[in-house]
Amino acid sequence: MQPSGGQAAPLKRVGRIVEVATPESFIFVTSKLDYPPKYEYVVVSSVEPVGGEEREVLVLCQVRGVLSRSSAYSSKLDLDALERLHQAGIDDANLLCVARTLGFLAEEDGREVVLMPRRTFPPGTPVYLAPDELVRDFFSYPPDEGLYIGTLVSRRSVPVYLSVSGFRRHVAVIAQTGAGKSYTVGVILEELMRLGATAVVIDPHADYVFLSRDREMRRHQHSDRVVVFRNPSSSGRYDPRQLDNVVELTVRFSELSPEAIAEIAEIPEGWVNIRKAIRTAVEKLRERGDYGLEDLLEELKRRSNQGGREGQYAERAYNHLLKLRRFKVFGSTTTPVDGVILRPGQVSILDLSGLNDASQDYIVSWVLEEVFRLRSTGQFEWPVFVVVEEA
Ligand SMILES: Nc1ncnc2c1ncn2[C@@H]1O[C@H](COP(=O)(O)OP(=O)(O)OP(=O)(O)O)[C@@H](O)[C@H]1O
Ligand SMILES: [Mg+2]
Repeated sequence: MQPSGGQAAPLKRVGRIVEVATPESFIFVTSKLDYPPKYEYVVVSSVEPVGGEEREVLVLCQVRGVLSRSSAYSSKLDLDALERLHQAGIDDANLLCVARTLGFLAEEDGREVVLMPRRTFPPGTPVYLAPDELVRDFFSYPPDEGLYIGTLVSRRSVPVYLSVSGFRRHVAVIAQTGAGKSYTVGVILEELMRLGATAVVIDPHADYVFLSRDREMRRHQHSDRVVVFRNPSSSGRYDPRQLDNVVELTVRFSELSPEAIAEIAEIPEGWVNIRKAIRTAVEKLRERGDYGLEDLLEELKRRSNQGGREGQYAERAYNHLLKLRRFKVFGSTTTPVDGVILRPGQVSILDLSGLNDASQDYIVSWVLEEVFRLRSTGQFEWPVFVVVEEA
C-alpha cells in the first residue's frame, strides 16, 4: 500500500531509489518524460525512532541535481558511430535525480518539530512528489511566531515563514550583490512591526528610510512605529520633509575622547605627536567646561601660533581636524538612546549615510553599548532586534 501523506489525494510516484542511500541523501531513477526538476520537493516513506518508538513517517527531500546518463552513447564513440546508433533508434538513457533529505515533522512535548532521519532508505524505495500541504507545514509556524517572508520559488503555492524564536541569537542574510538581501530584511522588519517588536537598524546607505511607507509611498498600519534618525550629513536620496517621522541624530562633540577624534579624522595611530597635540588641547578645553569642534580648532590654532615643535604639531592636527566640519553629526547635543532611540515597539532606523567609516563605527558602538547596557541592567525590559546592514 502506498503512503497517503494524511490527505485524500494519493501521492504521485516519480521514481525509485537506486544504488547507495544515506540518511542525508540518495539518488533515484525517474521518468525521462516527466521528472521533478531541480529544487522540487519529494517525499519518501520511512520508519524512524520518534520519542522512543518506531513510527512511519514521510521524509521531505529536495531535488538538488538532475542528470541523464547513457552507456550506448559513449564518449569513446566518434560522431558517425553516434549517428548510426541514433538512426537505429537506440535510446538507453535514463534520468537520475540527486535528493537531499530535509527532515520529517514529528510531535515532541506537544510541539511540532522537524527531525532529521537517522535510518536510511533501501534501494527500490518509491519516491513521491511532495504534496503542497506537507511542504506548507514544513515552512510554517503559528501566527504569533511566524514571520511571513514570501513563497517558495519552486512552489509558488507554498508560503514561507521564519520563526521569530530562531532570532534569539543571530540571523545572517547572505547572498550575492543585488540578490535581494536588504529587501528581505525590510520584509522581516515589517513582520516584526506587526508583532510589536522593538528594533534598531544600523543603516549605512539609507536603505530603510522608507520603511514607514508602502510601495505607493503611502503610510501604512504601522507607520507611526517607525522613526528615522537622520544624521545631518546624510547622503540618502530622500527629503526629510517627505517623511513625518524624522529625528536628527547627533552626538555631543565634547563626548568624544581625544583618541576617538583622531580616529574619526583618520589620523594614523603612529602619528603620536599629532595625536598628543589633540589630547593636550582637549584636556585644556575640558578644564573650561563644554566645547565644540570650533573651540578645539581655535585652541589648536592658538597653540600653533605659539610656534616651536609643539606649534607645528598643533598646526598639523588643526589641518586634519578641519575635515570634521563635514560631519555635522558631532554637534552640541546627543540624541538619547534611552527613551528616544530605544522605545518599546519602535523601529528606529539610524541613517549613517554620508559619514566616514570611523564616525559610523563610533556611533554604532555608542548606540549598541547603550542598548546592551539598558537591556542587561533590566532598564529596558523587552527584547531588542538589532539589524546591522553590512557597509
Ligand atoms: N522579493 C523581491 N521582490 C521584488 N523585488 C525585489 C525582491 N527582492 C529584491 N528586489 C529588488 O531587487 C533589487 C535589489 O535588491 P536589494 O537591494 O535588496 O539587494 P541586495 O542583496 O541588498 O543588494 P546589495 O548587495 O547591493 O546591497 C531592488 O531593486 C529590490 O527592490
Ligand atoms: Mg543591500
